[in-house]
Amino acid sequence: MEYRRLGDSGLLVSAVGLGTNNFAGRLQDEAARAVLNQAFDLGVSFIDTADMYGQGSKAGPGASENQLGRLLAGRRTNFILATKFGQPMSESIYERGASRGWIVRAVEASLRRLRTDYIDLYQIHTPDPQTPIEETLRALDDLIRAGKVRWIGHSNLAAWQIADAEWTARTEHLAHPISAQMHYNLLVRGIQAEVIPACQAFGLGVIPYFPLESGFLTGKYRPNGEGKGRLAESARSGQVLTKENFERIERLEAFAVERGHKLLDLAFGWLLSQPVVGSVIASASSADQVKANVAAAEWRLSAAEMEHVAAL
Ligand SMILES: NC(=O)c1ccc[n+]([C@@H]2O[C@H](COP(=O)([O-])OP(=O)(O)OC[C@H]3O[C@@H](n4cnc5c(N)ncnc54)[C@H](OP(=O)(O)O)[C@@H]3O)[C@@H](O)[C@H]2O)c1
Repeated sequence: MEYRRLGDSGLLVSAVGLGTNNFAGRLQDEAARAVLNQAFDLGVSFIDTADMYGQGSKAGPGASENQLGRLLAGRRTNFILATKFGQPMSESIYERGASRGWIVRAVEASLRRLRTDYIDLYQIHTPDPQTPIEETLRALDDLIRAGKVRWIGHSNLAAWQIADAEWTARTEHLAHPISAQMHYNLLVRGIQAEVIPACQAFGLGVIPYFPLESGFLTGKYRPNGEGKGRLAESARSGQVLTKENFERIERLEAFAVERGHKLLDLAFGWLLSQPVVGSVIASASSADQVKANVAAAEWRLSAAEMEHVAAL
């Protein structure tokens, strides 16, 4: 396993991470334990969750963190644990967002569910237009000083918001975010125009989410309706399983096969060939998927191959 510095920080994360938004909702304890154990055995140290994961399951928001906390008991320090706050945890307007009041409550709840006394990477899940960024960063800086959080990051911010957060941290002498978690994969490249250059300029590592476009980039879905998995059952299926996207992955798959690889190798390899990317946090439903994903992550594309893929 390759380990990379996340942004300009000293935090080392495994190049293949593990997303856990399917924990508790789709994976019960036994299946989630098998995924986690396999990940650990293959050197995957970076685990991403969020306070709201589990929403939609019987147990509701918090269930994924709770399950992860149970499964990590006794081996917490083997992992780098990233979680997020800010998405609604209830109907209440006071249980969401990035205000000081909510951050102080949210972190305590995450620590309790995760059964730990520190979070490695605490991420703002989504921009909160109601709260000044200085208030958010100052509250997060306080958590770092209190030892509850080691590093901070954010997710889904626009490039101008990334710059605003960076300069606020600099002028106010607050800890600065080291990572940006964004929807980014072979098919969805909107962040290349503004967000990636902002991350490069300010020393943030990119953590691509939906790196497999919910399973589509494994190549298991076919235009004839073949392919089972969460994507087929999700509300996103209509947007992803389109004629145009099938044509695009057909070209990408041919490019990979011509070079002795699979589409899955290209999905991981294309992301990991970009130095700004810290960790690719695909979720997995089984130990076999974890194995396949770690094996797929070995390919590094040349500059010419990256250009070729861009043209496809
Ligand atoms: N910051 C944000 O706003 C945000 C938003 C979304 C997600 N995230 C994070 O990003 C992580 C990854 O996103 P995601 O899980 O939604 O999408 P994804 O990683 O693109 O897709 C993962 C899904 O693809 C399937 N899969 C994975 N490996 C496979 C393999 N080798 N062969 C066949 N199928 C395979 C599995 O589902 P099936 O087996 O059911 O097909 C798995 O759950 C999440 O866990 C979460 O941590 C963050």
